[in-house]
Amino acid sequence: MEIPFSELLEQLPKQFFASLVAKVGEKIKAGCDVINLGQGNPDQPTPKHIVEAMQRAAANPKYHKYSPFQGYFFLKEAIAAFYAREYGVNIDPDREVAILFGGKAGLVELPLCLVNPGDVVLAPDPGYPDYWSGIALARARMEMMPLVAENGFLPDYEAIPAAVADRAKLMFLNYPNNPTGATATKEFFAETVAFAAKHGIAVVHDFAYGAIGFDGRKPVSFLEVDGAKDVGVEIYTFSKTYNMAGWRVAFAVGNERIIRALELLQDHLYVSLFGAIQEAAAAALLGPQDCVTELVALYEARRNAFIAALCEAGWEVQAPSGSFFAWLPLPKGISSAEFADMLLERAHVAVAPGIGFGEHGEGYVRVGLLTDEARLREAAERIGRLGLF
Ligand SMILES: Cc1ncc(COP(=O)(O)O)c(C=O)c1O
Repeated sequence: MEIPFSELLEQLPKQFFASLVAKVGEKIKAGCDVINLGQGNPDQPTPKHIVEAMQRAAANPKYHKYSPFQGYFFLKEAIAAFYAREYGVNIDPDREVAILFGGKAGLVELPLCLVNPGDVVLAPDPGYPDYWSGIALARARMEMMPLVAENGFLPDYEAIPAAVADRAKLMFLNYPNNPTGATATKEFFAETVAFAAKHGIAVVHDFAYGAIGFDGRKPVSFLEVDGAKDVGVEIYTFSKTYNMAGWRVAFAVGNERIIRALELLQDHLYVSLFGAIQEAAAAALLGPQDCVTELVALYEARRNAFIAALCEAGWEVQAPSGSFFAWLPLPKGISSAEFADMLLERAHVAVAPGIGFGEHGEGYVRVGLLTDEARLREAAERIGRLGLF
């Protein structure tokens, strides 16, 4: 018998990048030396002192039992200390922090916590596809906020019709931005707070690339702006700052009611993370931060090498100001999917077509700076040899 899936499952957005992953896999299987710049998986290991903290903690029998439901308080205190140190933001560890099984889990849970079927949720276009998953699971209606180069890839709130803004219950933002590499300013976040307060919209700022700002500019936390905590939360993951993508640990900080909603939903979904992971996560936040400075310098050197090599190859592109992605505009007359296919076929270079991030991603491809400088230069040279620019 064929067991039917629920309507909810059938309505989930299709995974656009699954076909790209399959095509890259086939090429590699056929013996091609593919330079894969299509994905967003950090290539460096977790710093040694964090791994050692985990190894020690894993042997502690205390952590072999169930963790407390909403996580260990020592991790919430470490998170509050981290926000005070890094951003000068005061966080109450008791009421303003929720521990998450990775940023993705929190992002998908939030629409389930805050909106009803049919409610409007504002999402950036182009944007990180996990926002669409949570919105679909909540059976909400997604309205896109175009991110265009002329506006520095920031949404233009004045362009959102009042009827849409008044119906919106939730908004996702993400700076430093995946996929565009753009960063936000305090002025933009202040505008966001005013817009959200005026229309009664809860704001979720996804700060996944919070540590990765270039040219000496530290990315701004949404919570640094007056009134931010009244309207929203920030999601911070260990995946990128500390190369802990496989560990699945992140947190939400900010608005007390939103944090309470997350904790309530999570009480029904899980017991908290393995205690040893929580101890290692606290060690990451409170321990030496040279590993973060070094990581940002590594990404910046890769960015500089890659952008310079592309320009030499005749492809004039802008350098990203944050994240580990470069967002590259295409020549007119070719779609991003066709362009990505062509690079894979003829140059054995994999990139992510912009259309996979939304309609306004068309006309671009995204490159992840997640391999060493020599390979990035080689990728640019291979592209240059195609004679497209
Ligand atoms: C914009 C953005 N948000 C959130 C995440 C999720 O990170 P994680 O689930 O590993 O914490 C990612 C990961 O690629 C991302 O690019």
